Amino acid sequence: MFQAHRNTRVERTTFFTRVAVVEHKHIPGLVDVIKVDQPADILRIAHDGAIDRAFGPRRPLLNSLLVSRILRVLSFNGRRFPTMSAKDATGRADRQDALWQRLNAAAPAISTGPSDLEPLARWVRDAHSETAVGPLVQQVIGRTFSATFTADEVTWGAAQVIAASLAPGNTWRNLAWRISGKVTRAKAMLAKMVGGDLAGVHAVSVAIHNVVKGLHQMRALYLDVALRQTLTPEMAGRRCLYAPGMVLRQATSSGTISGCPYSSGTLLLLELEKARQASGDESMIFLADTWSRCPAEQWVPAMLEGIWRRATNAQGQ
Ligand code: HEM
Repeated sequence: MFQAHRNTRVERTTFFTRVAVVEHKHIPGLVDVIKVDQPADILRIAHDGAIDRAFGPRRPLLNSLLVSRILRVLSFNGRRFPTMSAKDATGRADRQDALWQRLNAAAPAISTGPSDLEPLARWVRDAHSETAVGPLVQQVIGRTFSATFTADEVTWGAAQVIAASLAPGNTWRNLAWRISGKVTRAKAMLAKMVGGDLAGVHAVSVAIHNVVKGLHQMRALYLDVALRQTLTPEMAGRRCLYAPGMVLRQATSSGTISGCPYSSGTLLLLELEKARQASGDESMIFLADTWSRCPAEQWVPAMLEGIWRRATNAQGQ
């Protein structure tokens, strides 16, 4: 029996009426996936101990193809990237916390706009510059993992290969890349540059694309003379934050979300950026109050703030 429906729930409070929607694609034996794009539903899932990133059962067929493809890209030498690791995977939470502490300690200094940020500040100031911003961002992020990390068009190309192989579609190209080992080579090169730390590989190849998007937004803000003169570095930094398009979860027991029933094994696609754009809920950006919170939740805004400060010559503002 084919079921592909959007479950609609109407919530009424003293102040407003809200319609919450989830989309469930369910064809027994073929696919069982729920897309979630409401902040309240996303946060409920993010706090639900029975919805995890263990990715045990891979049935049905299309679920299996999707999870296997993403896990293949987001693993290296038999180890999963932290963003695809279960909540209780050995050492995950300790490593997440250690990175969070380390990046938080570095955040105040980078928010002042040190000279390391000059290439990015120059890129923001010069809208006609042909320089690619990707390697400039990669260099700054990479240096948080290795003092000798040096980005160029080859390392940026590796990040683009990894990101492209995560995007839906392009099955034949992805197959060719898999057979030729292109994606594995890209990961191996970046892993070597960050001392084998998979959080580092994630940062310079996957998370980086959200930061690059933010830099393009910053350049547009800078071009507007009124905004250039009025936005504080904190305000500008906040306006350049983008959430990941999607993060993946899997139910380990049955339940319901927005009135939509799911069973053990159902995949849940949390559409964070869509949820943030529709609602303005900034907690979607880093899922900061949840077990999977981004360790860079303070460092990334501080870095963007530092770039704006330097670009506008607003040190000490
Ligand atoms: C705009 C930039 C970024 C955004 C919006 C962002 C957002 C997120 C989100 C939403 C998660 C949770 C994923 C999930 O629930 O499955 C996450 C996880 C993570 N992020 Fe970020 N991130 C950004 C940049 C970075 C950077 C620069 C780093 C490293 C320097 C980083 C390192 C990580 C790591 C290691 C995890 C996995 C944490 C764990 O569950 O153990 N992120 N990020």
